[in-house]
Amino acid sequence: MDGTLTQNDLSHVVEADKRHVWHHLTQHKPFETSDPRIIVEGKGLRVWDQHGREHIDAVSGAVWTVNVGYGRQSIVDAISEQLMKLNYFAGAAGSVPGALFAEKLISKMPGMSRVYYTNSGSEANEKAFKMVRQIAHKRYGGKKNKILYRERDYHGSTIGAMSAGGQLERNMQYGPFAPAFVSVPHCLEYRAQWDLSGEAYGQRAADAIEEVILREGPDTVGALCLEPVTAGGGVILPPPGYWERVQEICRKYDILLHIDEVVCGVGRTGTHWFGYQHYGVEPDFVTMAKGVASGYAAIACCVTSERVFDMFKDDDSDPLNYFRDISTFGGCTAGPAAALENMRIIEDENLLENTTKMGDYMLEKLAALGDKHAVVGEARGKGLFLGLELVSDRSTKEPVSEKQIGAVVGACAADGVIIGATNRSNPGLNNVLCFAPPLIATADDIDQIVDAVDRSLTKVFA
Ligand SMILES: Cc1ncc(COP(=O)(O)O)c(C=O)c1O
Repeated sequence: MDGTLTQNDLSHVVEADKRHVWHHLTQHKPFETSDPRIIVEGKGLRVWDQHGREHIDAVSGAVWTVNVGYGRQSIVDAISEQLMKLNYFAGAAGSVPGALFAEKLISKMPGMSRVYYTNSGSEANEKAFKMVRQIAHKRYGGKKNKILYRERDYHGSTIGAMSAGGQLERNMQYGPFAPAFVSVPHCLEYRAQWDLSGEAYGQRAADAIEEVILREGPDTVGALCLEPVTAGGGVILPPPGYWERVQEICRKYDILLHIDEVVCGVGRTGTHWFGYQHYGVEPDFVTMAKGVASGYAAIACCVTSERVFDMFKDDDSDPLNYFRDISTFGGCTAGPAAALENMRIIEDENLLENTTKMGDYMLEKLAALGDKHAVVGEARGKGLFLGLELVSDRSTKEPVSEKQIGAVVGACAADGVIIGATNRSNPGLNNVLCFAPPLIATADDIDQIVDAVDRSLTKVFA
């Protein structure tokens, strides 16, 4: 740490935090006898806590966000210059960085054309849901209003987004939810629902979506919302053949396809800017948040095709010939200013290529842990977005307990490496360790991360 805060300052900070901050995702009872972790500084892919202890951050700010790493002076400068010029104006008007980032973003998304700015992933998804509902009113007498979502996917923390949430344990105690959200089966082949494999499995999992559409009535289904690679639900890679069939089904029944790229977007999966671009999918909506500005400023986007946009301006006689919606902080200019510079860094430093290369390397190393640790069920993922599913018995695939997963995460942290894990998401299936180091990770960083996991697995399971 650079010593800006003295130990004395920090003990006051810890006290203030313990007394007044309500942490996200956290049980607070233990803080009656222990201190919360406070992250004070970051540089590259390392962070320092209140004790000055260094950690490698193997999950980019714990939740797949700080894609270009900490301490980027050029992003700070871009934000600072923009804020002095104009910090905010409501999004009914345009802004210089808003226009320039939209242009740059759309240049990476062939087939898409409009960017609607918001300030969180949940909110971006809510915007898409509202657009779907309004399209149903405009075009289909209100009838085509159902939104399909998939088991194990997650789309945000608001009641609307949770209504599209496929993680039953996460949703417990927060219902009732909004009507007309309908779930379709997950596509995780490791926990197969059909006795098939490879492409046949992928097509069958997609056919299961068609079955739901037929059951509900195609004239009642407006959209299908999916993560390209499921994140918090267990890092689920779609099987081959899945996306092609999903696209076909959406076209067949005139169902809008909404891809939630909140985690995968802007480089996380390597080679392409977005997860869906690995699969040749042509979406109607793409939502994104976390990595858009790597957490240097809050920004999220709901991006649509021109076809969707046209539906909101093609009937002059309709007094609601527009999207009657606003996001106050969608008008903050720091977000697009930071996002523009974030994208420049990814391009100039070839981070899409690095992500693919380092992701392949890390996946191989994680899979190799299976030679030594019987508890490793499957290593999977794409780019620097990886998961390690742990099982107590490989033949039955009996999941390890969430407590054991927590012990591995704790042992890694004690070893100076912050990793993630599925938690209280899927009943009985919170058994996946999550890895998403910043896209700048080197082979040496990855060696250090996987070595810590190796030692932690020995500690917890040997
Ligand atoms: C796939 C996905 N969609 C949406 C969200 C919600 O984003 P936010 O927390 O910015 O509202 C998340 C958050 O983890 C996510 O993983």
